[in-house]
Amino acid sequence: MMTELASSPAAAAAEPKTVPPFAVISGTQVQQVLQGREKEVIELVEQTYRVHAAGDTVNPPSYFLRFPDRPTSRIIALPASVGGQVEVDGIKWVSSFPDNVASGIPRASAVLILNDQATGYPLACMEGSIISASRTAASAAAAADWLSRGRGRPRRIGFLGVGLIARYIHTFLKATDWSFDEIGVFDLSGESEEGFKGYLERSGTGARVTVHDGPEQLIRSSDLVVFATVAGQPHVHDTTWFAHKPLVLHVSLRDLAPEILLASTNILDDVDHCLKAGTSAHLAEQKVGNRDFVDGTLADVMEGRVSLTDDRPIVFSPFGLGVLDLAVGKYVYDELAGSGQLRVVEDFFSELRRYG
Ligand SMILES: NC(=O)c1ccc[n+]([C@@H]2O[C@H](COP(=O)([O-])OP(=O)(O)OC[C@H]3O[C@@H](n4cnc5c(N)ncnc54)[C@H](O)[C@@H]3O)[C@@H](O)[C@H]2O)c1
Repeated sequence: MMTELASSPAAAAAEPKTVPPFAVISGTQVQQVLQGREKEVIELVEQTYRVHAAGDTVNPPSYFLRFPDRPTSRIIALPASVGGQVEVDGIKWVSSFPDNVASGIPRASAVLILNDQATGYPLACMEGSIISASRTAASAAAAADWLSRGRGRPRRIGFLGVGLIARYIHTFLKATDWSFDEIGVFDLSGESEEGFKGYLERSGTGARVTVHDGPEQLIRSSDLVVFATVAGQPHVHDTTWFAHKPLVLHVSLRDLAPEILLASTNILDDVDHCLKAGTSAHLAEQKVGNRDFVDGTLADVMEGRVSLTDDRPIVFSPFGLGVLDLAVGKYVYDELAGSGQLRVVEDFFSELRRYG
């Protein structure tokens, strides 16, 4: 359903605008589009990093809504705009309620709103948690690929914190032809360790899976270390645990003490974003009073502006950019629109004449 908009005199000469249809996109629909498309999603995320680095995005700081009476919970607003081939504006509104997992439901829930760049009208309200987990895992898989070039692909991976994000990261690595001899697992919750082990078995991994009883042994025995905990402050302090110079995907951002970052090569997704909100990179900046420990962004590595050495650990810290959610969300939207599966709410916008 396309409805004609009343034009203002100034706009009359320009091409007439129309109010786009508004769709509601369920998690099942999102999953149907994204499942099996991990390679495309990684390419899209890489392309979006390039567009962001080229300055063709708007990605203001995320807004953290926190609650004095519920200090572990938060809801984050990530407004953004993407140019390039994607051309969409919008916002992700994502809750993190870590206590949810005790009841067996995921920590994070989200909606993603896409806005039409011509009229500003919202095009869709989509289930956002699958898009968010997919873009996070795609970014981690892209980093694992680009940052291990020149060192050889790690065959021993260790997951510290094994919830939904760890599962998505493993799925995206597997879908892009990573295979492992050994998979290490450590989580503060035995239930999470069991759940993740069960997932690994069902995924058909040929790797030997070892559940460690602490982070030290897991880190020392892994060449690719994935942090996906919900730690609010650093709990890993000892630089000697990283003496074998692993590649570290610090997806949960707040696990590592500043000393570890200061002794590593640091690649971020966006420098200004990452040095905020009490991340380990932010703490490192506060400790030394400068940003010299930051070597560059993943886009810098992809475009050859930064080259990597193998004489230190590499830590990738992705703050998580709203532009990635929009790019993946628009991909899902376009796939559904192209196959006639958009569920349009016909009368969603009903006040369409300025003077009635
Ligand atoms: N950087 C990004 O773009 C991005 C995007 C999405 C999620 N995340 C982050 O990823 C993390 C994981 O998200 P999730 O949805 O999988 O959460 P989840 O709650 O499903 O799983 C987190 C797991 O970490 C475990 N854990 C907590 N503290 C630990 C510690 N000190 N050592 C070992 N295990 C510990 C918990 O027991 C739990 O099993 C969160 O911190 C989230 O904010 C980052």
